[in-house]
Formats: sequence, structure tokens, C-alpha cells
Amino acid sequence: MTNPERIRIFDTTLRDGEQSPGCSMNLEEKIRLARQLQALGVDVIEAGFPIASDGDFAAVRAVAEECREATIAALCRTTEQDILRAWDAVKDAARPRLHTFVATSDIHLEHKLKKTRAEVLQMTRDAVRLARSLTEDVEFSAEDATRSDIEYLCEVFSTAVEEGARTLNVPDTVGYTTPTEFREIVSTVRERVVRDSDVTISVHCHNDLGLAVANSLAALDAGARQIECTVNGIGERAGNAALEEVVMACTVRADRLPYSVGVRTEEIYPTSQMLSEIIGFGVQPNKAVVGRNAFAHEAGIHQHGVLSNPLCYEIMTPESVGVPANRIVLGKHSGRHALSRRYEELGVALSPAELETTYRRFTELADRKKRIYDQDLLSLLPASRSLEHALGQSQRALTLDFAEAYGR
Ligand code: KIV
Ligand code: ZN
Repeated sequence: MTNPERIRIFDTTLRDGEQSPGCSMNLEEKIRLARQLQALGVDVIEAGFPIASDGDFAAVRAVAEECREATIAALCRTTEQDILRAWDAVKDAARPRLHTFVATSDIHLEHKLKKTRAEVLQMTRDAVRLARSLTEDVEFSAEDATRSDIEYLCEVFSTAVEEGARTLNVPDTVGYTTPTEFREIVSTVRERVVRDSDVTISVHCHNDLGLAVANSLAALDAGARQIECTVNGIGERAGNAALEEVVMACTVRADRLPYSVGVRTEEIYPTSQMLSEIIGFGVQPNKAVVGRNAFAHEAGIHQHGVLSNPLCYEIMTPESVGVPANRIVLGKHSGRHALSRRYEELGVALSPAELETTYRRFTELADRKKRIYDQDLLSLLPASRSLEHALGQSQRALTLDFAEAYGR
């Protein structure tokens, strides 16, 4: 395999994610999450949209002061007031970035901006020039790029490059594109605008058709080298490309996606959990990589396979993404293998005859109860074994108390 090419992970959980319904965070929460994003190893943290509110301004400023390893980006439209406000918020970062954007699709020009193509071209020129007079690191986004006329899109991007933008972002703002179409759009931008310059192509995909991650990965194939994404895939409407999915796709399928990322994958689950705790809601149970069931195996055949060798049904280990290693969920589809393994973990070794009796009781209970907890399992044991287990536990508790009391 050739040397994997390094791609940048641009996290916009604190900006695109935070601006979606139910996901707002206060200053202290934003700082806590930003610290965790830095521990996770993302390259860029988009900390907010400073002109939007005083709270956003303060958050960008605080994150800029606090996180000294990552690049900190502040979002702004193309007006002078927006750009100066964003710069004021981000300028003390160790690595500040101004991220300016304007829409380029005719739908947005006509119905939202009420501007002509020539006017938007000029707005791009002025904005990038002003931003570039403040910092070297300027990213330009063409909002609704995937529904824009490709000739015009390339013209706008070329203007941004002429004025010194170092990153060109191609957002699929409304989650409309498909992998093959997006690959073509990004290839065209690379061939016509970027050519052999060191300008980075970035992509920012929304998930309205559930294609955000697939589209982002297709763009890598066409030359994109920065992916904008969010933890747990939060973001406007159906969300953004999920960071954990992008990163683990590149990690697990390095044979097909030969790109390296700076992310410490074991920090993925703790980050996902922190975000859920802050915003007060988590991901769906079957969410890839970080969902409660992502590493759970209930069917007997699956449990047997995983216990023999996790490779049978797991393409990555829970530990590799920081999920605690308990793989087996006991329920009505579980088999004897998993049951006896759980009893062993609970300190009870069952004879084959005891396993038979206990397994029968277990299936009866599992028919009535959705989830079987350790307490339920203990109650299924023959009386003598429960007593033995209880004694073993109290012996253990006594030993622990003793060790604690005597500092051993
Ligand atoms: O979805 C979008 O187009 C955006 C831009 C501001 C990058 O969030
Ligand atoms: Zn967006």
C-alpha cells in the first residue's frame, strides 16, 4: 500500500452542530467540548459565528484562548462588519482561521440574497481580500455549491484563490448531491481551479438523504483533503457528516481509503458521550460507531461467533473507539455460550447440567422481559449456587473493605 495521504478533519460541532434545534450550549459547555475535541485530535475547530450573537462571540474568543493546538475557525458572511467581528473573536488563537462564505446557486441568489452573479463575484473578491489582510489562513465556502452552475462556481472559486484563499469549501448545503455527482463536482473544481497549487479542497456535506458520509468519502477520491463534520452527526436539519463515521471508515478501510487522520480514535466514544450529556440527547441505538448497539450482539449464532473470535462479527474493536468492552447483550436470542460466559464473568462456573436448567429458566424470563440484567441472572441460579455467589461477593466486599481500611 502507498503512503496514506494526511487529510484534515474540520470539526463544526460547535458551529453548524450547535445552531441546530435542541443543540445549543452555554459558554462553559462549549469550552469543555472544545477541550475534548482537541484531545480527540481534530485539525480545525470551528468555534462559532461571532456576528450571530454576543454569546457566539464570547465562545469563539474563549475557545481561541483555551485550545492552542488546533486551528480555530470563526465563520463570517462576506460583509466587512461580519469579517471584522469574526477576526476580533479569533485573532488571539495560536492558529486563527477566517471562514467566509456566500451562496452561489441561482436559487439562493434570486430568492435569498437578491443579488446578481456579478455582485456575488465582487462580494467574494472583497471579502477574501479583507480577510486575507487580517490573516493568512482564509477559507472560502460557496454555499449551496452542489446546486450551483459549475461554470459560475469555478469562476467564484478562482476569484477566491486569486485573492489568497487557501481552502475552498464545497458545501452540499441541502444534502442533495450523490457520491458520483459530488465526485464530478470536486474533480472539476480541482482540475479547473486548484490544479497544482497548494490550495486545499474541503467538503461540507449535509445528511438530508443520508448520504453525507458517502459523499464526503467520494470527494476524497476526487482530491478533497479536508472534511467538515460533526460529532454524532449533529447539524442543521438532518445533520452533517458524522465525524466518527468518516474517521472510522478511513481507519477500518485503509485499503480502499488510503488517508491518514490525526484523530485519536479511542477518544471518539468519550467525545460522543460528552456531547450527548451536554445537549441532553444521544444518538439512536443503532447509530454507527457510537450507538448503544454498535457493538452489541444478541443473536445466539452471533454471540457464539464473537466469543470465539470477535472478527466474526466485528470490523473494529469497541476499545479502538473507546467503547467499554462489554460486547454481549443478553436477550431472548442469546444462546448457552453467551449465558455461561456471563455467569463466568459474574464468578459462577456452571456444570453442564446446571447450565441446561438455568438456560431453560433464562429463555422463559427472556420471553417476558426485553433486557436481562445481571441481577436477573443471579435470581435464576439454583438456590445453592446463589448462596455461594452471595457469600463470594460478601467475602470480596470484606476483603476490599479491609484493604481500604488498612490502606493496602
Ligand atoms: O451548509 C453550509 O453551506 C454551511 C456553510 C456556512 C459552510 O454550513
Ligand atoms: Zn452546513
